[in-house]
Amino acid sequence: TYSQYRHYMQKEIFEQPCAIQNTIAGRLQSDFIDLSELGENINILFSKVQHVQIIACGTSYHSAMISRFWLEKLANLPCDIEIASEFRYRELVVRPGSLLITISQSGETADTLAALRLTKNYSGYLGSLTICNTEHSTLVRESDFALITYAGSEISVASTKTFTAQLTLMLILITYIARIRGMEHVIFHQIIRTIEKLPRSIEQILSLEKEIKILANKFIHKKHALFLGRGSLLPIAMEGALKLKETAYIHAEAYAAGELKHGPLALINDDIPVIVIVANDYLINKVKSNIEEVHARGGKLYIFAEQNTGFIQCKNINITLLPKTEPIIAPIIYAVPMQMLAYYIAVVKGNNVDQPRHLAKSVTVE
Ligand code: F6R
Repeated sequence: TYSQYRHYMQKEIFEQPCAIQNTIAGRLQSDFIDLSELGENINILFSKVQHVQIIACGTSYHSAMISRFWLEKLANLPCDIEIASEFRYRELVVRPGSLLITISQSGETADTLAALRLTKNYSGYLGSLTICNTEHSTLVRESDFALITYAGSEISVASTKTFTAQLTLMLILITYIARIRGMEHVIFHQIIRTIEKLPRSIEQILSLEKEIKILANKFIHKKHALFLGRGSLLPIAMEGALKLKETAYIHAEAYAAGELKHGPLALINDDIPVIVIVANDYLINKVKSNIEEVHARGGKLYIFAEQNTGFIQCKNINITLLPKTEPIIAPIIYAVPMQMLAYYIAVVKGNNVDQPRHLAKSVTVE
């Protein structure tokens, strides 16, 4: 019940195992994926796709970024992503066999809708599909196909459970498309097994609440923060920075860790916390050397990394240990500590967490 929680944002963070379970239910079977809700001709359409264009805004755009990573890796499909407010005012050059995907919690975001409507004037698109949390929304009505994230209604202005539900559904969809296009049986099954584990893995992450609450106190007087990530976790660094800005009112910027030495390294001092999200994948050693670059210049590091990856706590390095995670779902799971961190900083600062100043839940005007 809500009374257990102080804010909707907290409740919605804690509802994520359930939101994901509801989004998986019926779609993920023991040895296949059921997307028959898309109609019987969908496999023909998916086998024709040569390019995917994803359009979204804000947090939903971060889902698009991670989806591109999966589309390339699992389905070997080229993908372009863009924020709707830019896409709609560019001269469109449509690639042959392009599938348009929009991602939205509300299904009413003006720019995303306008982008969808714009593409209808071009014959090059194979069709439009929306990943949306609101079944009876304009975006769902106007798209050729829709997949609903069953995260339940989200009251807090800052999106949390709808983000991880979007990601889960995108991973299911992309794995489905990849299988049609020749993904090996063994890998297909491995991914199904991995997705099934998501609700449980997120439950484990939620048990970091106390630790993150304590960490939050170190941020209350900070004016700036830098988030670093690489690969599929760069969008999670961006999502962490967005959550921190909108709920805790701390200026935060996310950077691809490899870009540090091209400019932002000049900012490093002991007053700007540097939050690094590390996946235990092929990029781990690269991230480690980026961490060293910050450390050597006196930066204060807050590292979120898996156990047994060799990070050592010291004066300027705080480590939050995360449970062992398959790299493919790391972005979904690692989003959660970022949400919790922003939430608890906002709480200690006494902000109006669910209704941040100047913001609206649904951005229905341009
Ligand atoms: C941030 C947030 C916004 C929305 C954006 C798109 O926490 O909630 O950035 O993600 O306004 O909204 P939807 O997903 O409804 O299209």
